[in-house]
Amino acid sequence: MGGGWTTRTGFILAAIGAAIGLGNIWRFPYMVYENGGGAFLVPYFLALFLIGIPMMMLELGVGGKTGATTPLAIKKTVRESEFLGWWAAINGFIVLTYYIVILGWALSYLGYSFTLAWGREPNLFFGQFLGSYYPLIAMLIVWAINFIIVRAGVEDGLEKTNKFFVPALWIIVIMMVVGSLTLEGASSGLRWYLKPDFSSLLDPNIWMNACGQVFFSLSLAFGTMITYASYQPKNSDVAKNASIIALANCGFSLLAGFAIFSTLGHMSFVSGMPITDLIEEGTALAFITFPAVLNILPFSIIFSILFFILLIFAGLSSSVSLLETTAGPIIEKFNMSREKTVLILTLVGCLMSLPFALSAGNIGFVDEIVSTYGLPLIGFAEVMIFGWVYGANKLRSYINEVSDFKIGRWWTWMIKIVIPVVLGYGILGNILKQPGLVIVLVIILAAILASINSRFS
Ligand code: PFF
Repeated sequence: MGGGWTTRTGFILAAIGAAIGLGNIWRFPYMVYENGGGAFLVPYFLALFLIGIPMMMLELGVGGKTGATTPLAIKKTVRESEFLGWWAAINGFIVLTYYIVILGWALSYLGYSFTLAWGREPNLFFGQFLGSYYPLIAMLIVWAINFIIVRAGVEDGLEKTNKFFVPALWIIVIMMVVGSLTLEGASSGLRWYLKPDFSSLLDPNIWMNACGQVFFSLSLAFGTMITYASYQPKNSDVAKNASIIALANCGFSLLAGFAIFSTLGHMSFVSGMPITDLIEEGTALAFITFPAVLNILPFSIIFSILFFILLIFAGLSSSVSLLETTAGPIIEKFNMSREKTVLILTLVGCLMSLPFALSAGNIGFVDEIVSTYGLPLIGFAEVMIFGWVYGANKLRSYINEVSDFKIGRWWTWMIKIVIPVVLGYGILGNILKQPGLVIVLVIILAAILASINSRFS
């Protein structure tokens, strides 16, 4: 397997690196904006504590106890459900194929930062950029970087790079927060960011968005955390590690929000436009709105370089985790060498990234499919298998045996009742939007029921 983590800190940093990603820097601020500013933070933190942290404990617990990557960990619990682990890995791999393309854009924009090449019309510039061959070249470079890191193995590749990436991320984001808070107009942006709007709490959509953001941001239901946790020594802590990883990730999102919103406040101050007219959808925020803002900042070149390095480091530490989530199970199951596995995956991945590099429009469509057919269904299957079939209480005893602090009965309730209900509600909402999902759902439910049945008969 290329060895495991050499230290507890090595594992925690790699898991934080997997969690902190593009999702923290552009998706989180955009979600806050879309869902009523400060009001989003209440459901977000509730989702973090009620769902994110318990689920993180489940995944670290399963990885630690079984010592196996996701498909094998599931197979050890319910033989017939191994395919769910592969589905999670494939789902992660599909995300990786467009995640890398966006990272390629960030890499190109890092180059453009030195001259602020987007000029006065970042919108036009981004369109021309997407129509050129640069996204393709950048995509190949980012794949090559991922190949080199993951091929080097858990210890020499993932652990060593994350020991650099994660502290660097915090230093850069803190520098950006400090710099942006001194800008004129920053406080109006912050007021906007933190302004509560409690009426929106009654909107179930906001709650679903908060749960979706917590899952994506913490890299849950992709198999990543189970696989990463399986590379730890036996009896590694679960409860404390899970809490540290989840809180660090969400703290980082909050900080990134401070930098983004105070900068937008400044832009609103300079341009006289209300903040509500400045923000666009996710990718546009990073590649159109922000470059426009960067133009008018003091020390704009430095700010630009920092911003795109931040995106690249955050993205790379996540993309390597997605590649590992796919490579790890293949190495384990087929006894293939790491070198060969990662090479094949990289070649296949480059091909699969092509449509995204050539036409950015494909990204939104596939992202929607993955988040509809993947994330909530896999999450649901996980809590059914480990909460109900294996037994949340049994898993809780294991977690308490190995952890510095003990978790109470509440955890069992979360895993067995609250999380399935919330995910079930999300799945139901998706069905109403896309009736085709019913077929997939029936197959999954049949498979889960069949495996539960075989377990008890
Ligand atoms: N958590 C990452 C982000 O917020 O950008 C995305 C991600 C990485 C999702 C790794 C899933 C994963 F396995």
